[in-house]
Amino acid sequence: MFLRKIELKNFRNYDSLKLDFNKNINIFIGNNAQGKTNILESIYFLSVTKSHRCNKDNYLIKNDCIFSKVVGEVENDGRKNTYEIIINSEGKRVSINNNVFKRISDYLSKINVVMFCPDDLEIIKGTPSDRRKFLNIEIGQISNEYVLYLAKYNKVLKTRNEYLKTENEKDFNYLDILTDELIDLNTKIYKYRKEFINDLNNYIVDIYKIISGKEDIKIKYDSLIDDEDNMINELHDKYDRVRESELNQKTTLIGVHRDDFSIYIDGEMINNYGSQGQHRMAILCLKLAEIEIYKNKYNINPIILLDDIFSELDKKKKANIIKYIDGDMQIFITSTDLNSISKRITKNADIFYIDDGKVEGEKDGTR
Ligand SMILES: Nc1ncnc2c1ncn2[C@@H]1O[C@H](COP(=O)(O)OP(=O)(O)O)[C@@H](O)[C@H]1O
Ligand SMILES: [Mg+2]
Repeated sequence: MFLRKIELKNFRNYDSLKLDFNKNINIFIGNNAQGKTNILESIYFLSVTKSHRCNKDNYLIKNDCIFSKVVGEVENDGRKNTYEIIINSEGKRVSINNNVFKRISDYLSKINVVMFCPDDLEIIKGTPSDRRKFLNIEIGQISNEYVLYLAKYNKVLKTRNEYLKTENEKDFNYLDILTDELIDLNTKIYKYRKEFINDLNNYIVDIYKIISGKEDIKIKYDSLIDDEDNMINELHDKYDRVRESELNQKTTLIGVHRDDFSIYIDGEMINNYGSQGQHRMAILCLKLAEIEIYKNKYNINPIILLDDIFSELDKKKKANIIKYIDGDMQIFITSTDLNSISKRITKNADIFYIDDGKVEGEKDGTR
């Protein structure tokens, strides 16, 4: 899958930008705060319909403008499609080849990207909610059914919480109906998350071994479901047991909205205790495992976005990463310093110089 062209209108610090990309490697070079990450963010946004670094779409609109637009032409198996997202004060509008989709979920899961960026550490060091966000976005890129289940779950959860908050006497039949719906959606979402974490585990051990020389790494899914073969009964039991507390605390206490996962290296959970080095290594391996899932299980070559990661890594790790992502994948790299990227990579790359929201391109590694 290749992004051939992108067009930005009033996106972050860009007025109007049109770029054509190389099918292999594209590098953005520039000083800090010039707009390198903004370009990767626009590519990520085109895929996921969310920014990787802020929750509010409005921040993406250039200051003092009333709308923002990102258009991209994506080539996949020789077919080209044009994806477009417009953000304005009313929200966002997504379309493919000028067909507007009412539901965002119908637009999702078509452009697959894997982003590596400094903020990724939050997946390990951040809150359970940061980790659920990671699961939701990554699984959502593979399945729009998952996105739909999640949206339904959140809707039922909201209704149930609002009902638990009302002061009037409760109609327990109604509460049971909501609980049944929640249980059904819990099992559906659980299956997707469980499968994704199993898949990550299938690949991460080998990747970790190649990069670090060791092999003891494991991702553990912390879910409320223990008995996979008897999920519905288990959940009924568990919701029954917390009912009293839920009525007292006026909120839904258990469910996939409380899910989490943790990473173990040499048998120790590293989320709270690991070193910075272990965290970086684990995240790197997690993302590389994700790429392997795309390639091997779904036959997809995702678009790889490497934001500012080359300056921080040592030579050996850089070489190992490239080994994994080299091949049939399109790669976008940002860096302040072209010299931090090896000649082997830069010689086949298109290089773009970024200065205060303006881009100058040099084609085909003429540097
Ligand atoms: N909505 C916005 N409107 C105008 N400028 C913005 C907006 N959001 C961010 N910027 C500007 O974008 C620049 C940061 O771009 P970024 O891509 O993060 O830089 P870097 O090149 O360091 O990756 C800053 O100068 C910031 O002021
Ligand atoms: Mg940046």
